[in-house]
Amino acid sequence: MAPRIAIIYYSLWGHIEKLALAELKGIEKAGGTATIFQVAETLPGEVLKQMYAGPKAKYPVITPEEIVKYDGFLFGIPTRFGNFPAQWKAFWDSTGGVWQSGGLWGKYAGLFVSSGSQGGGQESTNLAAMSTLAHHGLIYVPLGAKTAVHLLRELDEVRGGSAWGAGTFSGGKGERQPSEKELELAAIQGESFWNALAKVQFEA
Ligand SMILES: Cc1cc2nc3c(=O)[nH]c(=O)nc-3n(C[C@H](O)[C@H](O)[C@H](O)COP(=O)(O)O)c2cc1C
Repeated sequence: MAPRIAIIYYSLWGHIEKLALAELKGIEKAGGTATIFQVAETLPGEVLKQMYAGPKAKYPVITPEEIVKYDGFLFGIPTRFGNFPAQWKAFWDSTGGVWQSGGLWGKYAGLFVSSGSQGGGQESTNLAAMSTLAHHGLIYVPLGAKTAVHLLRELDEVRGGSAWGAGTFSGGKGERQPSEKELELAAIQGESFWNALAKVQFEA
């Protein structure tokens, strides 16, 4: 049967959320579907207010019980000190039971990221996330170059993302929005991810 894909993201100011929607658009372009989930917030409301965080979107919060129902995952991760945020880690730290039962073993995962600035840690955030994928036995599916080389080699304008996956730069105060090229890269990643998984036989 067709792959069941979940796009799972954490976003405080909406940049990763916009990439998540572009990933979905790419999956749909390939004739697929995906369900969007958010990672639960762990910061207190007062702190979020002080950080000028936007309201949370309507997408359901991912749980250990829910994640095992899917075959493939695109994880959207905003950089924190060149690494993934505590909220992302908090979710994974609640998946000990899933890990023990091998609930994600042999399934597929891709990553997309956001950072404030160039050199702010997009690739190191991808790299840091790999350890979690490895321990759960998730098979990493990078964007690679084949489907996106025209964008990846271009130097005409500032653009996040790499062969690891899509990416955007938010600016120091979140003032920059994902550019057309960053959204295109995210859509290509979604399309490529779907096409890679569509070759695999999944059990009903
Ligand atoms: C505590 C904290 C640490 C951050 N660390 C980095 C960093 O190391 N490098 C960087 O470029 N941006 C850093 N940022 C900026 C975020 O990556 C940026 O706000 C985020 O990617 C925006 O995505 P969002 O709107 O989806 O939340 C940091 C932000 C916060 C709040």
